[in-house]
Amino acid sequence: MNIIVVENEQVGGREGYKVFEQALANGANVFGLATGSTPVTIYENIVASDLDFSEKTSINLDEYQGLAGTHEQSYRYFMDEHLFNKKPFKETFVPNGLAEDPEAEAKRYDQVIADHPIDMQILGIGQNGHIGFNEPGTSFDITTHLVDLAESTIEANARFFADKNDVPRRAYSMGIGSIMKSKQILLVAYGESKADAIAGMIEGPVTEEMPASVLQRHDNVTVLIDKAAASKLSQKFDVKA
Ligand code: F6R
Repeated sequence: MNIIVVENEQVGGREGYKVFEQALANGANVFGLATGSTPVTIYENIVASDLDFSEKTSINLDEYQGLAGTHEQSYRYFMDEHLFNKKPFKETFVPNGLAEDPEAEAKRYDQVIADHPIDMQILGIGQNGHIGFNEPGTSFDITTHLVDLAESTIEANARFFADKNDVPRRAYSMGIGSIMKSKQILLVAYGESKADAIAGMIEGPVTEEMPASVLQRHDNVTVLIDKAAASKLSQKFDVKA
């Protein structure tokens, strides 16, 4: 893994942007995208740039079950607001939170991924080591599926909702098997609350109890973290300011 440690998320936004810029220069066509707080500064840098995604495809990692794309807390809405409305793509895919048949929706999304192999995937990480919404204990081989979110994930995401009870308890997630097929992966994490997950991912055993540890088996992973998220690693790194 190529590890980049930065002073803060502003610097992270610039460094992450450079990874996208390089991927584009290398001919990447399909971008796997994430929501949550972490990618926001990277998306801000992309929006402010003259990079052109108008012939590119995006495939998002996940979506809450039960939320329409017009709901302010849906991931479709998040992506439209933070990126797609300001930086148009040729086509953008997000699971359909309102799909009536979850199995059919998972199949449909797997077909989308099969038809558009992902060149570059950006990932955040949960405090429990989840990637996408693949919670601890999920098979490394799984494809798109409907997930019962871990209580800790619901609590972590409650900050975006008026009330914790409003947080959907299930979400569609791209599977670890599909994430691992991306040609290149950029995992980003900021803050002390991610330090244990980052240490487990990089220095711990590869185990389904720590989903992100599977990335040790991928040959093109960049980990972009701030000092706080890096604080429990045994190796020491120069910090980019
Ligand atoms: C979001 C996603 C999640 C988040 C993770 C971290 O699409 O797949 O795995 O990346 O929960 O969330 P933040 O960035 O809000 O700390």
